[in-house]
Amino acid sequence: MIFHSNDVSETERIGAELAKDLKPGSFAALYGDLGAGKTAFVRGAVSVLCKDAPVCSPTYSIVNRYDGEIPVYHFDLYRINDDDDLYSTGYYDIIEENAIFFCEWCEKCPQAIPDGAIKIFISREGDGRRIEIADTFT
Ligand SMILES: Nc1ncnc2c1ncn2[C@@H]1O[C@H](COP(=O)(O)OP(=O)(O)OP(=O)(O)O)[C@@H](O)[C@H]1O
Ligand SMILES: [Mg+2]
Repeated sequence: MIFHSNDVSETERIGAELAKDLKPGSFAALYGDLGAGKTAFVRGAVSVLCKDAPVCSPTYSIVNRYDGEIPVYHFDLYRINDDDDLYSTGYYDIIEENAIFFCEWCEKCPQAIPDGAIKIFISREGDGRRIEIADTFT
């Protein structure tokens, strides 16, 4: 499915729409350049899943956890260089939890993205963004 977003609030709204379809174990893999709008998309989704949780970019922390009815983990793999790095963050244990997962910069660690992940590709399109959601189950 392809969406066109003219500003950050539209990207948040598209994220919020997707969130309604997510269940425990869902893994949303985000792809796109610096400043594409990945964190904005996740902010919108988390606003539905974990009311009032403040979403910030986990670029330095690698992972943020937000508490909702179902816990949500938000990863950013930008600073991960290899699988050993990723392993040491606890990523592989965390993704076995009964939670919902968002992961930015999945192009950094393609081998680490679970089969069945929902893939979200965000790119610039004029002043706006093109957002493609590829659900492997549909
Ligand atoms: N249509 C749009 N959707 C999302 N963000 C937009 C849009 N138009 C402009 N922006 C701006 O682009 C930036 C997106 O920032 P955001 O942190 O979400 O990107 P990111 O993809 O997570 O970047 P990073 O790779 O650094 O994590 C914000 O400054 C936002 O205001
Ligand atoms: Mg980001």
